[in-house]
Amino acid sequence: MDIITHNTSSERYKKILYDLLNSYPLLNHEKEELLSIIYPIYMHDEFQRRMTKEYLHHNEKVLGQHILEDTIITYILSKKERENPKYRLDLAVTIAMLHDLYSLPWQNNPEAKVEKFTNKHGFRHPIEAAINSLVWYPYLFTKEQETTKILDGIIHHMFPLPVTRLLENESNSLELKNFKYMKYLNEHNKKILIDSSNRGSIGRLSFSPSVYPEGKIVNKADKLTSIMDFRGSNMASIPSLLTGKNKKLINNRRK
Ligand SMILES: [Fe+2]
Ligand SMILES: [Fe+2]
Repeated sequence: MDIITHNTSSERYKKILYDLLNSYPLLNHEKEELLSIIYPIYMHDEFQRRMTKEYLHHNEKVLGQHILEDTIITYILSKKERENPKYRLDLAVTIAMLHDLYSLPWQNNPEAKVEKFTNKHGFRHPIEAAINSLVWYPYLFTKEQETTKILDGIIHHMFPLPVTRLLENESNSLELKNFKYMKYLNEHNKKILIDSSNRGSIGRLSFSPSVYPEGKIVNKADKLTSIMDFRGSNMASIPSLLTGKNKKLINNRRK
């Protein structure tokens, strides 16, 4: 997929999205259904920033591309659930689009550093993504049941890896890079976030899958996408998930 720069026109962004969709075995009406859900999320300025090299996610892959691939795989896996009347394909696809909208590029970035081990990017970023999603896409969070499913899916998308527990206090004990947004959240949504991230807690971390099938499917799609990213020589970059330092990326830049 093409990497784009910051000032690219919306036509260029559209083309990248359509090219990616066309690279998967989807029927025309399926592409239309998927586009109708993801397009408004994709066209947000914050999402488009994540389509640039400013946000490298796994090695040289830009974050936006990872999210879109995860979303298409979520859609494909969700097709099997269509017979289940309680399953909300639109919510699963929405969770996938939001799951990694964390605040700062995390590889080799001194600003992304934290003091506590349990606050490292790998454990903390789902909380940042959930908070950013509430602030950037408020129209997705107007109904309690939908809000609960979407936030729970985002928070527990890394399972079996744990997520940092959000506690009910005013200090930035999680060293969140978007802590300033906490004041914009209403008390109801904050409570949903706190309750979800405290399920299955051991110490400062929560070890729990999402309790909703939509979140479980995104978790599966994220694993599949990430495994593809780390295939072959990229396996050497896996430790960067914990340390935040990716020597391979630095060496590639020097070449
Ligand atoms: Fe993630
Ligand atoms: Fe992801």
